[in-house]
Amino acid sequence: TTRTPLIAGNWKMNLDHLQAIAFVQKLAWSLKDARHDFDAVEVAVFPPFTDLRSVQTLISADKLPLKFGGQDLSAYDSGAYTGEISGAFLSALDCQYVIVGHSERRTLHNEGDDEVAAKVAAAIKHGLVPVLCVGETAEDLEKHGPSAVPVAQLKAALAGVKDGANIVVAYEPVWAIGSGQAATPEQAEQVAAQLRAVLVELIGQESAAATRILYGGSVKAANIAGFMRQPNVDGALVGGASLDLTEFSSIAQFQ
Ligand code: G3H
Repeated sequence: TTRTPLIAGNWKMNLDHLQAIAFVQKLAWSLKDARHDFDAVEVAVFPPFTDLRSVQTLISADKLPLKFGGQDLSAYDSGAYTGEISGAFLSALDCQYVIVGHSERRTLHNEGDDEVAAKVAAAIKHGLVPVLCVGETAEDLEKHGPSAVPVAQLKAALAGVKDGANIVVAYEPVWAIGSGQAATPEQAEQVAAQLRAVLVELIGQESAAATRILYGGSVKAANIAGFMRQPNVDGALVGGASLDLTEFSSIAQFQ
């Protein structure tokens, strides 16, 4: 199976819609100048919700080969959920992807495994590809080793998902996020391989082989190549460095 690598930029709560337009335009130019092969390496951005309409309009008007998605979604379709965003709305904006279960949602918004599972199901229901984030804290790592928590989170999140589901998994060790202390490529590969083995049980052999597993946590231009050389690492979920045009373009062109 050949998996198309995915380089994804999670902007978190950065860039308003005007800054987003300027950034996406420059990113597209920069990648085109570098003759980036978008069929060989997919590039996606995850702006704040308030930017998505502007980003969609720009990408469709200029026919830019960039993908985009939301950073979260509601588990519900519609209704009295003040402040929430439905997967249906993201779909209507042509989002291809949506991040689900990012560690900042799990920690700062108390999202537990059940809620993450409901959000994964909602994403699939609305035709979005969930980018499911899993990862252990430094404390988990010390107590249970590297794979136990990510594997448990994966099983819980995909409990209701059928064989053949189209998903992306992002392995993001919490201790590596925003810390400047990335995992080693070998550490990322070890967990990614375990996650893929568990995916076989959860969604079947064929889908497991086709699922992109990304690494996230202090990825930058200087360390991306090492991750991309690992057989089970199929891309990166980039936070801080996704806001720097030169860094993010170089990450996308890791080869
Ligand atoms: O979603 C992205 C991750 O949280 C990684 O963030 O690249 O700033 O460490 P970072």
